[in-house]
Amino acid sequence: MLLTGTTGTGKTHEAYGALRRIAAAGPCSYEVISITTADMYGRLRPKGSDRGTEEELRRLCHVPLLLLDDLGSAKASEWTEEMTYRLINERYNACRPSLYTSNLPARAPLDEHGHATGPDLTSALGGRITSRLSEDTRIIAMTGADRRRTAG
Ligand SMILES: Nc1ncnc2c1ncn2[C@@H]1O[C@H](COP(=O)(O)OP(=O)(O)OP(=O)(O)O)[C@@H](O)[C@H]1O
Ligand SMILES: [Mg+2]
Repeated sequence: MLLTGTTGTGKTHEAYGALRRIAAAGPCSYEVISITTADMYGRLRPKGSDRGTEEELRRLCHVPLLLLDDLGSAKASEWTEEMTYRLINERYNACRPSLYTSNLPARAPLDEHGHATGPDLTSALGGRITSRLSEDTRIIAMTGADRRRTAG
């Protein structure tokens, strides 16, 4: 599942709500990793963890349930694109469930020339990643105001 929407629409809140529901309905114990994409890249960098890049990536690929928060928000590079591709491709091939949130729309609306009107997940992550997501991921667009600014 992918929750998209602008800042403060409640994506992270709903994603953790989904984890709680799964925990209530699922097996007695199972492993979950929930992490922001920026922190994930931090862990995957050389010296980012004691385990090392390949072992850290293997854990993220193999964990039964992954919540990856803020997909597409970190500054992109060839390296981040490659790491994200390897992770999502491996989970896609193995049909492992994943929850994603992103501030970017799955696809930006097109202008009259057929060009995207702004950034979207494809421009941030690359078409190979969003092609896989479009096949097996339910996309839910969250709308509304920034709840942090309207609270109270
Ligand atoms: N359904 C809800 N009921 C009550 N409070 C909520 C609900 N959804 C979100 N909130 C609160 O609104 C605030 C923003 O929610 P959240 O952090 O989930 O937004 P977000 O879409 O993930 O934002 P960002 O794009 O900045 O990561 C938080 O304080 C959260 O606790
Ligand atoms: Mg969030």
